[in-house]
Amino acid sequence: MCGIVGYVGSRNASEFLLEGLRRLEYRGYDSAGLAVRDQHGATCVIKAVGRIAGLAEKAMISSPEGNIGIGHTRWATHGPATEENAHPHFGGDQILTLVHNGVIENYQTLKERLEIEGYCFRSATDTEVAAHLIASCLEAEEQKGPPPANDPYRHPVAAIQAALGQLQGTYGLVVMFRDYPQVIIAARLGSPLVLGVGKGEHFVASDASPLVGYTDKIVYLADHQIAVITADSLHVTHRRQGRVQHNVERLESNTSEATLNGFAHYMLKEIFEQPESLTNAMRGRLCEQDATAVFGGLNLTRQQLRQVNRILLTACGTSWHAALVGEYAVEELARMPVEVEYASELRYRNPPVEHDTLLFAISQSGETADTLAALREMRRKGNPTLAICNVVGSTIAQEADGGIFLHAGTEIGVASTKAYTSQCLVLTMLALYFGRLRHISYDAGRRVIDAMHGLPDKVRQSLQVNEEVRRIATKYCHEQNFLYLGRQYNFPSALEGALKLKEISYIHAEGYPAAEMKHGPIALVDEHTPSVFIVPQGFVYDKVLANMEEIKARGGPVIAVVEDGDTKASKIADDVIFTPSVDEFLQPIVSIVPLQLLAYHIAVLRGCDVDKPRNLAKSVTVE
Ligand code: G6P
Repeated sequence: MCGIVGYVGSRNASEFLLEGLRRLEYRGYDSAGLAVRDQHGATCVIKAVGRIAGLAEKAMISSPEGNIGIGHTRWATHGPATEENAHPHFGGDQILTLVHNGVIENYQTLKERLEIEGYCFRSATDTEVAAHLIASCLEAEEQKGPPPANDPYRHPVAAIQAALGQLQGTYGLVVMFRDYPQVIIAARLGSPLVLGVGKGEHFVASDASPLVGYTDKIVYLADHQIAVITADSLHVTHRRQGRVQHNVERLESNTSEATLNGFAHYMLKEIFEQPESLTNAMRGRLCEQDATAVFGGLNLTRQQLRQVNRILLTACGTSWHAALVGEYAVEELARMPVEVEYASELRYRNPPVEHDTLLFAISQSGETADTLAALREMRRKGNPTLAICNVVGSTIAQEADGGIFLHAGTEIGVASTKAYTSQCLVLTMLALYFGRLRHISYDAGRRVIDAMHGLPDKVRQSLQVNEEVRRIATKYCHEQNFLYLGRQYNFPSALEGALKLKEISYIHAEGYPAAEMKHGPIALVDEHTPSVFIVPQGFVYDKVLANMEEIKARGGPVIAVVEDGDTKASKIADDVIFTPSVDEFLQPIVSIVPLQLLAYHIAVLRGCDVDKPRNLAKSVTVE
């Protein structure tokens, strides 16, 4: 979703802003813009609809020279993707420029008031309201007289505080002022902002990726904090508590994550990184001596965890599918009841929740607005809350009582792949942990651990089907409807396989429990509706074969993901993808790999923008 960058120092600001915006492209956006103030005090604003490459071309022509600036990628919420609606927006009579992430919920009321006061709106955005409101507050502050010499930014800071007090909703915003040429001011409520600390320079961004290679010192701005940033100074205040000490942390980064390393797309690279990301998810977490999993950050004692009688998993999108895998694993291995809830539903549903229920919020980005809201709601109710996140320092990771990081590395492709398999694995390790607290024997625990140790190699073998999957993709890439069918542990894979295809190739695809297909979806079956079956060995194997026959009997093409050595399913299916055998609780992690590849190749063959699919955002920070 929207991205923010800002710079003040001695570099050519537009170079950092454009590079930063490029690195934020993965979040999803449909227009972009930047504002740079030149040495003569003029602010040059450049905007473009579409990709950053277009903005960069325009910037080459006007080549804004200056050492202070802000930039933005916009994912349209209020008003279509046009240059008028792209950020930065001017406030007042161009006395400030502003970029904003989030949603101003009371923008209509404020807009009406500001229009009566004479402010002229050029866009349909909620953001422009914030820009004019701060401008109006600044004019009021300046009428109070000049600021004291030891507090030159008192007026802009007071103006922002006064304006924020009137805004309802969420924001991460950064402002540059015409009459305060050395400073940018950033403020956050519900929409992340980080600050990079360099030598004689500071950076602002909506996540850490633009900072990599520029500085390894990072400050995570917290809700209600306002940062006053010049080249040489950084002061953070809290809207109610006044000046606060900020922590400068070390930014751990791996620069190879931001490069394609010879792969055509980040999604393909991330699919192929899975043996390694799974190894990282397990590193130091499997204790053979105790035949259990170990998690350092749960912040709950073994006794507290032993008293948990029910687990509630909440998430959105692909992370919700991982939660379903977790439900099967925890119920089977730990014999504990698990409920999986869409975070967007949980946050408003007010379900009866017993005190012995433990909530896990699962989120790759750690910033998804609905997941964060569901976590907060459960905390309000007094339940312990844990997070399963990939992004260290993310809001969900910070607000939960404890949690588990995926250590999957940065995921850039909008369609989640390696984070998904790591989520599934972490949840399966949790199932082992809770199982060993309850009734799983030492021997059984050891067998689970052995199976997990073998998993990266099994995924490596699974990746060897890439060429075969590409061939199958060529055969079916022109179809408009797909069904994905699987049972038990492989039902979430059916949902996730269908979602992957939908997300990046724009083909309609539905995932169903295979047996449920008779209750509706079978009506769709014809020679142009391929059904993808996930049918590894297991106690429902024969039943899924029967479903496959039902599709064949109606002329529907069948693609089957089967286990090595399978002969029965291969006789029924039109196309077969072989994957290595694993224990049932690990099947979802192995069987999703060919489905990720299938979606990828079909999307490429259809000429789609795989890493930046239309309308989607990597991190959905609005409701
Ligand atoms: C967006 C992304 C999905 C992701 C979902 C949840 O829709 O495009 O790939 O699964 O958000 O994101 P999270 O970061 O909370 O896992």
